[in-house]
Amino acid sequence: MYIRNAWYVAAFPREVGERPLARTLLDEAVVLWRLPDGRPIALEDRCCHRSLPLSMGRVVGDRLQCGYHGLEFDAAGTCVRVPGQATIPPGARVRAFPCVERWGFIWFWPGDPDDADPALIPNWWWATHPDWAINPGPVLYVRCNYQLITDNLQDLSHLAYVHTRTIGTGAIVDFPVKTEREDGLVRSTRWTVDSPAPPLFATASGYGDRPVDRWQIVETTPPCHTLIHAGCALAGVADRCGPPDGAGIHIKVLNAPTPETSGASHYFYAHCWNFRQHDADLKTLMFDEFKKTFEEDVDLLAAQQAMLDRAPGATQIDINVDAPGLACRRMVAAAIAAEADAAPRRA
Ligand code: FES
Ligand SMILES: [Fe+2]
Repeated sequence: MYIRNAWYVAAFPREVGERPLARTLLDEAVVLWRLPDGRPIALEDRCCHRSLPLSMGRVVGDRLQCGYHGLEFDAAGTCVRVPGQATIPPGARVRAFPCVERWGFIWFWPGDPDDADPALIPNWWWATHPDWAINPGPVLYVRCNYQLITDNLQDLSHLAYVHTRTIGTGAIVDFPVKTEREDGLVRSTRWTVDSPAPPLFATASGYGDRPVDRWQIVETTPPCHTLIHAGCALAGVADRCGPPDGAGIHIKVLNAPTPETSGASHYFYAHCWNFRQHDADLKTLMFDEFKKTFEEDVDLLAAQQAMLDRAPGATQIDINVDAPGLACRRMVAAAIAAEADAAPRRA
């Protein structure tokens, strides 16, 4: 079960070019391609003639041509040419999904197209702002349910055990997390004060081994978009009311794990920073360290999912650090229930 009336990331822009891209998203076979003007298009990846994946065809001008008998489909999924005949059979169309490129991601909407308002895409403006540098990540394929990724991002206590080589320090677990629930948002906040910076931050900031105040403010909006405001400043500089203006180093981590199926996810992420933006060595360091960090999560999450599958009814206990993740799960469950309630009225 998924929230359907929502934007999900389908691909990075670099992945969608002249050749159609096949991707399973929320159990749906989707093909992504571009019009000559650059606009991304998402269609059902199944030809309405004899079901060949349209991703095996090719882009011909502003149409996608099936690779079997040459039927051509426009951006709306309508068949506009059948080779060798003048008429097009009624119903010759495939489903088209609303599709938008924004903030360095290509988003698609698997629900009711009439509700697909691009204003509902998370406002991740750092991705294109000239004062901020950005590293889009690789697409991580994670053999787990997408909600385990939200759990993981909303519980950064794990940095102290999983990511000690990059962004973790043992000090994190000594500072409690505060959870806030707003309409359509869960926010967890942790300040780790007067403590050593983690290895990546110590290097990137130039603070070395001087103690810092570190903030991690994690905001999740449905269905599964998690924005992390991360950074640190020399101890005593920040007032701990939020990321300080003009002090310290600031990193925004944009996370969009999209379900492939209930048991696997395409995990898209990028990180943005507002210091040493033109430093190529820092850019490489950030990319490598984040990738190393996230790949540690990939292995852990797959192992966790495999064990959950082996023992689906096994008892699990909850501890304090689970509060934000549990709040996110309740938020998603409520949205799914609301869609189920609304479906008969819309029919
Ligand atoms: S299967 Fe696509 S044109 Fe025949
Ligand atoms: Fe992690």
